[in-house]
Amino acid sequence: MTSSLNINEIYQGDARELLPQVESDSISCSVWSPPYHLGKEYEKGISYDEWIGLLKDVIGLHYSILKPGGFLVINIADILCFPDESIPRFQAMNVSRHKVSITREEVLEAKAANPNYNRNQLAALLGCSEQTIDRRLNGNNIRGGKYNTQTRVHLVGNIIQDAATAANLYLYDRRIWMKDPAWENSKWATLSYRAVDEFEYLYFFWKPGTTIVDRSKLTSEEWASWGSRAVWQIPSVRANNDHEAKFPLELPRRVIKLLTFPDDTVLDCFMGSGTTAVAAIREGRNYIGIEKQSGYVSLARESCEKEKQKWQATNGQKTYKSEYASSGNQLTLLDKF
Ligand SMILES: C[S@@+](CC[C@H](N)C(=O)[O-])C[C@H]1O[C@@H](n2cnc3c(N)ncnc32)[C@H](O)[C@@H]1O
Repeated sequence: MTSSLNINEIYQGDARELLPQVESDSISCSVWSPPYHLGKEYEKGISYDEWIGLLKDVIGLHYSILKPGGFLVINIADILCFPDESIPRFQAMNVSRHKVSITREEVLEAKAANPNYNRNQLAALLGCSEQTIDRRLNGNNIRGGKYNTQTRVHLVGNIIQDAATAANLYLYDRRIWMKDPAWENSKWATLSYRAVDEFEYLYFFWKPGTTIVDRSKLTSEEWASWGSRAVWQIPSVRANNDHEAKFPLELPRRVIKLLTFPDDTVLDCFMGSGTTAVAAIREGRNYIGIEKQSGYVSLARESCEKEKQKWQATNGQKTYKSEYASSGNQLTLLDKF
């Protein structure tokens, strides 16, 4: 029998192999952000089905390790450009992008007036190329290119919810993280009616049991600005130089502060750069981290050491303010960690 994972350590390995080694009923809150199936370096070579399998397995392994009344909080986004061979070709007349000002109506008029003209003759008549005539008549400006596989939006929340329900964990709440608009990831937005990518979800699942609800753990200002609010406006991490998909520290910090008490244990089994562990230390909680890639494990351990030193230097008294001051639900960055 393998011994349990210790608190305040980050372990290298696959979440599916290490989660069974976490002590039963010991985790007050597990908060993590898994791979999003977006082709990041750390998820290369994983098929869609394998990715779903990973999410289901990891969620399924949570029931036994969560304390009764504890929470699993998952930060994830929908897949906005999910390639799908089966969808009909999206025909887009991108009128505002036409380099040649000839409209479809003008081509149709010319055709009606000259029913025997072929495309070549119509092109000569209107002073444009044969290709323009074809595009206007057949509307074959296809988003993403004529021959590329088309994409659609793919919702992820239902997959997560089904996996949690199968594991006897119940959807307790859901919130929105409103982040910076990612214009550079949304080039297609200029060729369609789709919105820019600017929010993600937080799904809160609950393990049946007694949950102590103590409203005094947040100030009335914190309750008003984020504790009771469904939309959390938090700037994205600007410098993803050491890890390609960090979430902002304020995200797990709020979850931890809201759902746990000092000395409770917080888990992140997709630990990445260590953000959740740093937030746990900052809020006086214990942590357990699991991360597959050794480089990120070292990074996370270093970040934890730095945070612990800060903590010890102040004898556990926080001398620095939390990162954000609130005014309504608008947040201003005060002090960058
Ligand atoms: C979205 S990132 C998490 C980033 C983290 N929240 C942060 O702020 O740095 C997902 C992480 O999960 C790790 N990962 C992917 N598959 C894993 C697995 N099967 N077990 C453990 N970690 C895994 C990746 O290496 C990556 O660091």
